[in-house]
Amino acid sequence: MATIRLFCLVVLSTFLWQHVIAQRIVAVGDLHGDLFRTMTILKFSGIVDDEGHWAGGDTIFVQTGDIVDRGDDTIKLYQLIQQLQEEALLQGGRVVSILGNHEVMNLSGDWRYVSQGDIRSFGGVEERKKSFAPEGWIGRDLMEKNLTAKVGTSVFVHGGIHPSFAQDGIDGINLKTRQTILDYVESRGRFDPHKVFGGHGPSWYRGYALEDDSICSVLDSALELLGADRMVMGHTVQRDGMIHTRCGGKAVLIDIGISHVYGGHFGSLEIVDDELTAIYRDGRRRLLVDRKAKLVHQEL
Ligand SMILES: *[C@@H]1O[C@H](CO)[C@@H](O)[C@H](O)[C@H]1NC(C)=O
Ligand SMILES: *[C@@H]1O[C@H](CO)[C@@H](O)[C@H](O)[C@H]1NC(C)=O
Repeated sequence: MATIRLFCLVVLSTFLWQHVIAQRIVAVGDLHGDLFRTMTILKFSGIVDDEGHWAGGDTIFVQTGDIVDRGDDTIKLYQLIQQLQEEALLQGGRVVSILGNHEVMNLSGDWRYVSQGDIRSFGGVEERKKSFAPEGWIGRDLMEKNLTAKVGTSVFVHGGIHPSFAQDGIDGINLKTRQTILDYVESRGRFDPHKVFGGHGPSWYRGYALEDDSICSVLDSALELLGADRMVMGHTVQRDGMIHTRCGGKAVLIDIGISHVYGGHFGSLEIVDDELTAIYRDGRRRLLVDRKAKLVHQEL
């Protein structure tokens, strides 16, 4: 009898741990102006319902930047994120939206990757400029956003955080961003004393995605400085449309080329505790890490 009770207790506490205590995180990478694919992914990941409203309960939804550019749906995507930010709070959930290098490029007035359809959707160049200006409906929001966020034991960032930035800690990086972003915008990208918006900064750095495995020790020191178990990054397109891990699962690469401009792949990353799962249109695959720190896909 006592053993049965103990067994029930163990089952119950395991259940509670998985369903109540461990908060579910769902993350998506670069969206680049593709509303259709974004919506499809959010639906099969349990973040929105068929009408496009928050259905994630207390899930924390993280978007790692580059909502804008290349595709045409800038307006609808920023509206969607703002709407979900409000709706999530009512259910105890949260939306974390991070600046990508394309948001930052716009900040400095670099419109090289803006599509004609995007400009038309705003009603012309002047209208678009107004929306993105620091007091415009998109600009105002961007000026508030961070370059990085720590959720649970994971750090989320668009490009990657090199130890030279990690030494400031998450709050330090975000503080420097907040202190300089307006001058950065107004100087059209010239004023960047801490180089937080620069090519080696958190929204541009690609070392953890592209360099050989010796980069893993660099990542280790960055994670130690940040007090985190892993870094989840967008920015560097995984051409096969799959989420990949490196360095024994400490680097998670989630830019799978969602936008039709990059192949139009569907997928998100789910983190519950230390369990990482890729959610694709055709099902879930647990991201396992073997001793050689190579990714193994296991069908669930
Ligand atoms: C985006 O670019 C436009 C045009 O260069 C600029 O006026 C605007 O200030 C930029 N966005 C933000 C958020 O500052
Ligand atoms: C930015 O990050 C700081 C901590 O680093 C946090 O206090 C603040 O709420 C964040 N802002 C947004 C808009 O997420």
